Amino acid sequence: MKHLNVGLLGIGTVGGGTYKVLTRNAAEITRRAGVAINVVQVADRNVDHAKTLTGSDVVVTSDAFAVVSNPKVDVVVELIGGYTLSKELVLKAIENGKHVVTANKALLALHGNEIFAAAQKAGVIVAFEAAVAGGIPIIKALREGLGANKIEWVAGIINGTTNFILTEMREKGLAYQDVIAEAQRLGYAEADPTVDVEGIDAAHKLTIMSAIAFGMPMKFEQAYTEGITKLQQTDIQYAEELGYRVKLLGITKRTDKGVELRVHPTLISEKRLIANVNGPMNAVVVKGDAVGPTLYYGAGAGAEPTASAVVADLMDVARLSSATFEQRVPYLAFQPNSVVDLPVLPIGEINSAYYLRLRASDKPGVLAGVTKILADKNISIDAMLQKEPDDNETEADIVILTHITQEKNMDAGIAEIEALPAIVGKLIKIRMEELGK
Ligand code: NDP
Ligand code: HSE
Repeated sequence: MKHLNVGLLGIGTVGGGTYKVLTRNAAEITRRAGVAINVVQVADRNVDHAKTLTGSDVVVTSDAFAVVSNPKVDVVVELIGGYTLSKELVLKAIENGKHVVTANKALLALHGNEIFAAAQKAGVIVAFEAAVAGGIPIIKALREGLGANKIEWVAGIINGTTNFILTEMREKGLAYQDVIAEAQRLGYAEADPTVDVEGIDAAHKLTIMSAIAFGMPMKFEQAYTEGITKLQQTDIQYAEELGYRVKLLGITKRTDKGVELRVHPTLISEKRLIANVNGPMNAVVVKGDAVGPTLYYGAGAGAEPTASAVVADLMDVARLSSATFEQRVPYLAFQPNSVVDLPVLPIGEINSAYYLRLRASDKPGVLAGVTKILADKNISIDAMLQKEPDDNETEADIVILTHITQEKNMDAGIAEIEALPAIVGKLIKIRMEELGK
């Protein structure tokens, strides 16, 4: 093969970045890949705008199906997003014997199992480095670099938008509502920012990582997803006073009973490197039994950082397209007949430490009542913070950090505490992770 001919679907943020990087670094990429990687056709809804990016050398069409059926195209790069039309296009490309590169985490989390099965049947590559943590080569690390390990857990800040919002809330004391508009303006957010702030985008990425870390199918529908929309400035400040940062983490762990698969705001000790990953940056910690914890950090979004991952996948396709199926790295890191249908644990079955905030009447004996409930449930307290009531106030905030317990035990304790007459309103519960061992 002298050339790898690319058909590009979508020349927006990532597609535009990909075109730019492929053009600017063409000589260096050819030196590494051994063949030239040429974009031969582009599909985009806005043909005129697309032509301003590609010039006249490349055929531009508004018909994405023309690209996936073009006999000159060896590999289809899907960068239009969504998971209805993109699924149809990707399956059609596979049916037509074309390799596929995509940055589309939603598509893979929801339809990856079907797409990989079709690709295996057709003997083509489906590569997706850009789908998780943008420019960070975490897929390569999980599938290849850490291949000797039994992966125990993966935890990451895998959504730039929410990390930016949480950083602004902590550093500038701003409320959530004041920061979301800025995140949209800066272009970190998905077309529908609900997908970011409700933790869905992170759950898509986590689903992909759990599949390749543990050799199991994509199980997005069983992921527990809790975003940052209900997070209060007060809790970010109290966490800080206790030496913790609040991050939206995607966490997946292998346990004897099944796999934990969860996205939620999480307290992490400020001493951990990942707690200091700020702004729109991403970071992933992977714990392997042989290597121990490893940390991967970088830009999780943006035109060229994401293009960096897309182009690296194209270079893999260039090198491996003539290899047999057995010579290639399996889609989900494990051989297809070794992918195991591991159960995902319901959130009540997970084990975690907890941050609790309660508001209580400032009367003697209240704290004793709370600690008795926790002791009866075998939940031990790690730290406690009691705030003085403000002038003219008769209620005070109490913050408790617990050691690890099962979530349903914690929830039962919370229900009993909320029923105490001196407790005002609902308790705030935020999970905590140590991320050290
Ligand atoms: P953009 O919206 O910037 O780009 C998508 C492009 O595809 C647009 O030009 C759009 O045109 C075009 N398009 C949409 N539908 C069609 C269609 N039916 N036929 C032809 N063209 C079409 O999205 P991004 O580049 O940001 O994202 C692309 C993918 O990459 C998504 O799956 C996203 O989740 C993923 N991703 C994005 C990252 C980022 O930082 N932006 C990072 C990692 C992954 P129009 O504008 O007219 O709709
Ligand atoms: N909206 C995503 C984020 C883009 O904020 O991380 C990158 O996947």
